[in-house]
Amino acid sequence: MCGIVGYVGHRDCADVLMNGLSKLEYRGYDSAGIAVFENGEITVAKTKGRLADLENKMKEIGKPHGHAGIGHTRWATHGEPSDVNSHPHSGERVTIVHNGIIENYKKLKEFLIGQGRVFKSATDTEVVAQMLDYYYDGNPVEAIVKTMHELEGSFALGIVFQDFTDTIFAIRKESPLIVGVGENESFIASDVPAILKYTRNYYLLEPNEIAVLSPYCTKIYDLHYKKIDKELKTADWDMESAEKGGYEHYMLKEIHEQPTAIKTTITPRIVNGLPSLEECGITLDEMKNFNQIFVVACGTAMHAGIVGKYVIEKLAKVPVIVDIASEFRYRDPIVTKDDLVIIISQSGETADSLAAMRLAKSLGAKTLAIVNVKGSSIAREADMLIYTHAGPEIAVASTKAYMVQIAVMYLFAFKLAYAKGMIDKEECKRLTELLQQTPNLIETILEDKTYEQYVAASLVTADSLLYIGRGLDYALSMEGSLKLKEISYIHSESYAAGELKHGTISLISEGTPVIAVATQSKLIEKTVSNIKEVKARGAKVTMVCRESFGDDSDIADYCIKVPDIDDILMPMLAVVPLQLVAYYASVLRGNDVDKPRNLAKSVTVE
Ligand code: M6R
Repeated sequence: MCGIVGYVGHRDCADVLMNGLSKLEYRGYDSAGIAVFENGEITVAKTKGRLADLENKMKEIGKPHGHAGIGHTRWATHGEPSDVNSHPHSGERVTIVHNGIIENYKKLKEFLIGQGRVFKSATDTEVVAQMLDYYYDGNPVEAIVKTMHELEGSFALGIVFQDFTDTIFAIRKESPLIVGVGENESFIASDVPAILKYTRNYYLLEPNEIAVLSPYCTKIYDLHYKKIDKELKTADWDMESAEKGGYEHYMLKEIHEQPTAIKTTITPRIVNGLPSLEECGITLDEMKNFNQIFVVACGTAMHAGIVGKYVIEKLAKVPVIVDIASEFRYRDPIVTKDDLVIIISQSGETADSLAAMRLAKSLGAKTLAIVNVKGSSIAREADMLIYTHAGPEIAVASTKAYMVQIAVMYLFAFKLAYAKGMIDKEECKRLTELLQQTPNLIETILEDKTYEQYVAASLVTADSLLYIGRGLDYALSMEGSLKLKEISYIHSESYAAGELKHGTISLISEGTPVIAVATQSKLIEKTVSNIKEVKARGAKVTMVCRESFGDDSDIADYCIKVPDIDDILMPMLAVVPLQLVAYYASVLRGNDVDKPRNLAKSVTVE
């Protein structure tokens, strides 16, 4: 959480920092701030609120002008969102921005207070600034190394020292950080889109590496002050794909990018009509012999895992356990060397997912990461890796990343089922071919979004609603419900339709909205019975079903129809109207769709 940037070069530093932060606001937006060397002095401008608030504040107090500095956009952990808790934080001669959490900050703070140091904020970050100051004796790298040895937790830091007016310093442990290299200019950033306007060349900073950046040279050292030669990477995301491209919100743009994202993700992995996953380093023999599979992830990525469970168990007959990463890591899971643990993550930096993966590895299991962000921590540490190719996902609410996560789960399930002899070659080809048809079918759904707007308008004043479904429809209803509550702030719950009558149906009263996902033909009669049960108690039902469903007039109040495809692939299509209903509900309620309150895109704290 939190986004950090830094710049040193020939441009106006404040402009570069603000531009970079605008690409990182998805990481948190409780406060924003920059520190710039202006006439040899570090000048700080910071405020509670968003970047727009910082812009306004700088109109009042004046924007600092200079050529070196650091910036921050915050997702609050220690200390409420306020001006004083906003980053940057300073000691006497040091100013820093921080992404992460310092776990032992209390102990360090007591020590520093004992040394006569006075603290202004309630943050863990200020402790780092003061600690750097405490150790600083004219040699910045030495102060950083000494401070590093004191800190426990996760962090990426951008640092400026008062005595070095054309240099910025950076270090990371756990939290991500890249070092951008331009012509006579250098950058640091939590994520690649923050530097794309200026350069596509960057280094991935590894844990415990210290970057020293000046306009003409970038040096990276280890903790023993030994210079490290690193491979310069080139970003393959362009500015265009990281911008809104004419859509009102990133979320809508990303919903529309789903057909392309699916094609880009699956096409290179289909050879002669069959899934081919050799690139990830998994052999057929290994694949056949896993005892059981765990899928571990958070939020939407975990919901993609639930779709995967249904599909793998149905086709390949291998038991799959889906776990929330924050539960998995502390519940002493019974994982052995004969198991496969699949970690799904868009960002590849989610702290709980990363820790869960490390735990699985320590228990001897093979780990397979399905990740979108290249070079992210989960991608780098997994035994095997499949990248999804969704491109940058900026909206906090995940849509296209979910879509490609489930697309990869399908490929994996088809491959596994075939490898185990549970389906023959023809069936494997048939399913793969159907998967390839999904982008075009999604295009047709996206051609006309008026009905989803209409449904969103019907529930926009509701206090609470239920999503119900059976089998894969239940898996999908979980995602529909999360999407809606996350951005519309309407309370919603997803429920297995057959389980309603064991308690939850008592929530239904006159007018309660219910969204019933009813695409599974083998279960349709049962789901329709459950719809009738809630309708009989006053529920206002929206049904999401297949085009071939026929007359729906006496079953649901609203009916969203999606094209027909094999039951098993229906989630790929049916999720789209659920995303759109959530999107329009959020728009109609006047919410900040791309940056819902209290959330951040990348959750790098546990
Ligand atoms: O980056 P990750 O995929 O690991 O993130 C996991 C969740 O935080 C994420 O899917 C979250 O639930 C989304 N905001 C939901 O839209």
